[in-house]
Amino acid sequence: MTTQRQFFALELPAPLQQQLVQWRADHFSEDDGKPMEAANLHLTLAFLGDVSNETSQKLQQLASRIAQPGFALDLDDAGHWPRPGVVWLGCQRAPRGLLQLASLLRAQAARHGCAQSAQPFHPHITLLRHATQKVALPARGFHWRHDVSHFALFSSTFSQGRTRYRRLARWPLLPTPGA
Ligand code: 2AM
Repeated sequence: MTTQRQFFALELPAPLQQQLVQWRADHFSEDDGKPMEAANLHLTLAFLGDVSNETSQKLQQLASRIAQPGFALDLDDAGHWPRPGVVWLGCQRAPRGLLQLASLLRAQAARHGCAQSAQPFHPHITLLRHATQKVALPARGFHWRHDVSHFALFSSTFSQGRTRYRRLARWPLLPTPGA
């Protein structure tokens, strides 16, 4: 059976990806870890692992029925997880809409055989990998806001030493109340 590594995620607009990469270059050293490529910066909602086409189609069908409002993502927090070697950007207060969306996608994934991590969901954008040594994090005070209006399904492939993410499908969230 052919399978493909897939995950649901929030995309970031290219100008924001560029801003984050610039900020990373200003605040981290080459020794801190391996930078994620700008175009690969994203926020994972639900990791599916290796899925069959059938499972993926089923989960896409369920995703297309999700009707919940968009939300604003305030990127104002950073952290370091030494064990997986990840330096990340996230939110001091995750928006409820983000937690609801991730929770629904993760539950649907789990019901279709995609084991979900037992760890609580901690929304984050991975900036550096292989960051297993001590890293000095930038002082708080940084802030980017992104209005999230869509979520998407991606495939992940690794070839010639590079990870490539490809968007397979994308779904709109409802207009934000009051917007
Ligand atoms: P990470 O950035 O914290 O490593 C594609 O690999 C995306 O899926 C990444 O955002 C990655 O999160 C996430 N991912 C990879 N393996 C995972 C796992 N076993 N459980 C949860 N998320 C995972």
